[in-house]
Amino acid sequence: MLKRFRSAISAFHHKERYITHEQEIADKKFIVREMSTNDIKELLQLEKVIYAGELPWARSAFLAELYSRYVHLYLCILYQDQIVGFVGIRLFFDDAHITHVAVHPNFQKTGIGSLLIKEVEAFAYRQHCQTISLEVRISNIDAKRLYRKLGYETKKRMTQYYKIGNEDALYMVKKVE
Ligand SMILES: CC(C)(COP(=O)(O)OP(=O)(O)OC[C@H]1O[C@@H](n2cnc3c(N)ncnc32)[C@H](O)[C@@H]1OP(=O)(O)O)[C@@H](O)C(=O)NCCC(=O)NCCS
Repeated sequence: MLKRFRSAISAFHHKERYITHEQEIADKKFIVREMSTNDIKELLQLEKVIYAGELPWARSAFLAELYSRYVHLYLCILYQDQIVGFVGIRLFFDDAHITHVAVHPNFQKTGIGSLLIKEVEAFAYRQHCQTISLEVRISNIDAKRLYRKLGYETKKRMTQYYKIGNEDALYMVKKVE
């Protein structure tokens, strides 16, 4: 039954091939490409730098997303062959959920986070989703400001959503237009 339900959901969307491309930001050349399981080791190192030694996503979380039966898109952005940011989105009926976005501190506030979010938003649009959603820690001022700037609105507060720190989350949504 669950299997049939899952394949019905997968049939709602279609897997598409993401074309690797070069992107210039502030006179620097970056490569944006789809994430693969071969990247996980480097992504874990990057997470440690971004989250001061913490690993919000362990290897198993990346694997679960990359092998998910739900249609999804996971992207990495590279500078001089090093991954400096990543983003992921997973589709569920007419909603596309941004599961993670993170940028190396040395590369933050240059437009990379916005670029990654816009890439997955374009994917949600092509997949005919109606909304894009995400959760953000109540204390994550920078991310909340960025999401609001990009058109996300708070729909509800989720009490003690994060196990680490027992922190509340804001559930934010943007209409796909
Ligand atoms: C949230 C996060 C992904 C944003 O990434 P980012 O690359 O810094 O995002 P951007 O550069 O696109 O935007 C950040 C700010 O820089 C500004 N900016 C973008 N390009 C700029 C430039 N060339 N010069 C000056 N400012 C710029 C943006 O307008 C935005 O302004 P704001 O602070 O007023 O909102 C990043 O802060 C991060 O990785 N944080 C840690 C992980 C995390 O918390 N992830 C979110 C989990 S929900």
